[in-house]
Amino acid sequence: MFDTQPLYKVAKVLLAPRKGILAADQSVTSMNKQLESLGLKPTPELRRLYRQLLFTTPGMEEFVSGVILHDASIRNHTDEGTKFSDVLIAKGIIPIIKVDKGTVPHDNYPREVLTQGLDDLAERAREYYNMGARASKWRAVLTISDNTPTMENLRTDAMTMARYASIMQNAGLLPIVEPEVLFSGSHSLRRAQAVTTETLRVFFSALVEQKVDLKAVILKSSMVLAGSSHKNQSTPEEVAVATIETFKQSVPETVPGIVFLSGGQTPKRATANLNAIAKLEAESDLPWEFAFSFSRGIEEPVQNAWLGKKENVPLAQAELIKRLRLNSLADGGEYSPDME
Ligand code: 13P
Repeated sequence: MFDTQPLYKVAKVLLAPRKGILAADQSVTSMNKQLESLGLKPTPELRRLYRQLLFTTPGMEEFVSGVILHDASIRNHTDEGTKFSDVLIAKGIIPIIKVDKGTVPHDNYPREVLTQGLDDLAERAREYYNMGARASKWRAVLTISDNTPTMENLRTDAMTMARYASIMQNAGLLPIVEPEVLFSGSHSLRRAQAVTTETLRVFFSALVEQKVDLKAVILKSSMVLAGSSHKNQSTPEEVAVATIETFKQSVPETVPGIVFLSGGQTPKRATANLNAIAKLEAESDLPWEFAFSFSRGIEEPVQNAWLGKKENVPLAQAELIKRLRLNSLADGGEYSPDME
């Protein structure tokens, strides 16, 4: 079995206070949709230019401990030919590789999906390690409705996630496990809390069963909040209470940290919720470090400033730094909306 000690150090670096993870691992399809929504015609070159803009932003290392990359990006490079992974490493930022291959329908379970990507995972992990990655991410997707997620869907996805984590630890990559409970839906805060608690319990029980070293795992979680179309939208204080209560009921104390996805919340809302969670954390005696790991919650304003134009790159990079700084403040419970 691989020695997981070096991964404790990776976890510590990724969870450094006041820093977070930039999730720049949109699939080609998602990235194309984002480019189209800016009125642009997606091309591989435009996707490369966008990632170059992000990763070469001066000073981002003050707020960013790791960047999650898609397979296409870890193989890509700057105009000068420097690999994106090397650009990040030079700044002291850990390249994290998204290794799942997306979802497919869970046959016989309407509206539910399963995450793919185990088959050649050990070989891919070796290749990514040699490219400089020291952590990885795998996302499972759970939808809340009157009759989902089913226990069968949770268990199957959890077993796959546990295999992923075990393969990663044996390849020298810290696994970030991301069972995303989707924000979309009309469910209440109470229901979101119940589903997220159950989900995390099932996933961690599978990790334990597969003898994954939980000290070398980071959880990437949704914040717990009422569904996006529920009549009562949760306040930051409600989100903080429900989220922390959920973790107390479901996340083993040995896990070193929990990072949050933004899940389709507006950037401001995601930051305000992170801030409320950090404030409550400071009053509670919790075993985990918290940090942000947003994609849309950080990148939306960057993309809107960029619009695919070279002359807008400095403005877009300034937007990136602004959003990162606000999230770094929120990580310490020191953000307020009038800083926007
Ligand atoms: P969002 O912050 O846009 O939810 O994305 C985070 C992520 O990594 C999704 O897998």
